Amino acid sequence: MDKFVIEGGVPLRGRIAISGAKNAALPLMACSLLARGEHRLANVPRLRDIATTMKLLGNMGAVCEHGDPWLRIDTRRIENFEAPYELVKTMRASVLVLGPLAARYGRARVSLPGGCAIGARPINLHLKGLESMGARVELEHGYVVVRAERLRGARIPFDQVTVTGTENLLMAAALADGVTVLENAAREPEVVQLAEHLCAMGARIEGAGSSVIAIEGVEELSPAECAVIPDRIEVGTYLVAAAITGGSLSLSPCRPDHVEAVVKKLEGTGLKVRYRGDALEAEGDGEIRSQDLKTWPFPGFPTDMQAQFMALMTLGDGASVITEQIFENRFMHVEELRRLGADIRTDGRSAVVRGVPKLSGAPVMATDLRASASLVLAALAAENTTTVSRIYHLDRGYEALEDKLSAVGARIRRVNE
Ligand code: EPU
Repeated sequence: MDKFVIEGGVPLRGRIAISGAKNAALPLMACSLLARGEHRLANVPRLRDIATTMKLLGNMGAVCEHGDPWLRIDTRRIENFEAPYELVKTMRASVLVLGPLAARYGRARVSLPGGCAIGARPINLHLKGLESMGARVELEHGYVVVRAERLRGARIPFDQVTVTGTENLLMAAALADGVTVLENAAREPEVVQLAEHLCAMGARIEGAGSSVIAIEGVEELSPAECAVIPDRIEVGTYLVAAAITGGSLSLSPCRPDHVEAVVKKLEGTGLKVRYRGDALEAEGDGEIRSQDLKTWPFPGFPTDMQAQFMALMTLGDGASVITEQIFENRFMHVEELRRLGADIRTDGRSAVVRGVPKLSGAPVMATDLRASASLVLAALAAENTTTVSRIYHLDRGYEALEDKLSAVGARIRRVNE
């Protein structure tokens, strides 16, 4: 297993190239199951979750090749409709094949995701939506088995905003008979990109990006090309890297409209941010003002940036109350940040972070993707050496993290334990 050895205390300076968004690429890959032929996606990051999805689609009979610039997926021979436990347990997003398989092949067998490091994360809303569209859903030996004739359009009000739930039902509705209306739908940029791609494939969708999406099902879709949007969470993570090290970074390409809430919050902490074309330039002066934070669905501050923001607040000039409103158990980084000297107390979904003058290096352990990112950020600012073990979590979601950080001056090495 690999670990990172990080010597903190260097202000980062230079340009970082932002990769395509993992959470946009995953539904676009699943979407290929909706149409027979060769699908081509550009700007797909080289990450473990992408490799897992290629394996998942390959297992169904698709032929996938991650070249440059295209990731090609040939879906002419899909003959297996299963997402096995071995793959789903390493990547919950495997459930994204459920909607496309049910819509196009009338059957799917997908392992239940089970618990994960950031909470229970059920898929009841995905299943309820498919049932409203006429699918029969059963649980057999830990698997969700879905059977359907052609799905029917339906009105689907979500009890809670769910990103992959919205994506699954958007894909299912694209081939259903009649009109589907998703209410309280997720408004995340990744949902919008999926809707735009589906439209390029021949789907009829209105309202993506708002909380009501109407989809008029069509008989057939055909393959289309698309370039994955820049990763807004990667942008946010490197903005915090500039702030926490008192450095100055230029990040591109990025979509300013995708990172507004994060930029605004970081400006409140004292980071200076400028938009220059498709680049964001950020400059920190080492003074960090404490700010409170609540996570929200888009366009609010994303839960996927909560841990990184907390790392920054550990060095703030006062106290910060951080409230996690999306997941019930997303404070796994707290104990590890404490090992670096942070002063954090949690109470249910809130954490009170009192800024300390400095963090000091220690061995810490990564627990999930974003928690791991927060530990790397804290380590970049800490005195002496920090080792972050179990970095396979980071390999799931940050492309070439240590190369990108080294290139802007960080002292970070990958070591095989
Ligand atoms: N929920 C339910 N029932 C459902 C679906 C969701 O109760 O059927 C609850 C969840 O337990 C959670 C809330 O609704 O409390 C929101 O979960 P959501 O479904 O939106 O999360 P997700 O779709 O499983 C995606 C991202 C996550 C990101 C969340 C929230 C992908 C592949 N994953 O997950 O990304 O945190 O939306 O924005 O898009 C990450 O990249 O590190 C990551 C975890």
